[in-house]
Amino acid sequence: MLVNAANMLKKARDGRYAVAQININNLEWTKAVLQTAEELKSPVILGVSEGAAKYMTGFSTVAAMVRAMDAGLNISVPVALHLDHGSYEASKACIDAGFTSIMFDGSHFSIEENTEKTRELAEAAHAKDLSIEAEVGSIGGEEDGVIGAGEIADPGQCSLIASLGIDFLAAGIGNIHGVYPSNWQGLDFDALEKINGATNQIPLVLHGGTGIPEEMIKKAISLGVAKINVNTECQLTFAAATRKYIEDGKDKEGKGFDPRKLLAPGVEAIKQTVREKIILFGSDNKA
Ligand code: 13P
Repeated sequence: MLVNAANMLKKARDGRYAVAQININNLEWTKAVLQTAEELKSPVILGVSEGAAKYMTGFSTVAAMVRAMDAGLNISVPVALHLDHGSYEASKACIDAGFTSIMFDGSHFSIEENTEKTRELAEAAHAKDLSIEAEVGSIGGEEDGVIGAGEIADPGQCSLIASLGIDFLAAGIGNIHGVYPSNWQGLDFDALEKINGATNQIPLVLHGGTGIPEEMIKKAISLGVAKINVNTECQLTFAAATRKYIEDGKDKEGKGFDPRKLLAPGVEAIKQTVREKIILFGSDNKA
């Protein structure tokens, strides 16, 4: 069932669990995430970066595929189709393309420009019943060529952006995309506490969900985080399982020519990663 993400995240915040945003790259990824969310009776958010959408030939193709697959698989749990780190232009395009949720990432603009654009896009999104996430303080690391320095968001700016009618807020607290370096300082919980206190119970979003230790995930959820994004971990487990299948020579009989067989171990690995995340975030049986 395709829905916007506003209610599922309000419920998560009240119930002290988080909904997983799993980024998708193709049909196999999408099917694996939908089937696993259904298996665990969990709401889920499918994240689509601009780069992934381009790879899949555009936002409309993604929306058509996800809608058809959701119906074809008889998915009963709530599913949001969400633009990840969208530009102003991509946010507008997704509102028209059939997405149910967008993230406008105006964190690289001045706070004035971020405010102005976020306010405008919140109105446009809500007019078509989409939910909207905004960002303050860039998330570190690189995702699809977008590089952030990993600032800690300012609670005053978070309060301002949260008051613009958005549905959930991503605030940088030392989290980064990709694999964490060995000298990573960890999440800044003092900052998270201040941001949580300044943003009137808005569900908070933690990007960079790959590689954050379990106890930090749980503490973040206790401080208002209701959505956690995971991308890199699925890519790593998919690649490792595919590589192992080939190196083990399981496709010796020539079955490796069949893409359905070749991709099967990777798909199983994605499902297992998604299962682990849903259970760790506590959203199983919450649909
Ligand atoms: P990871 O790269 O840590 O999985 O983070 C994904 C993310 O935050 C997508 O927005």
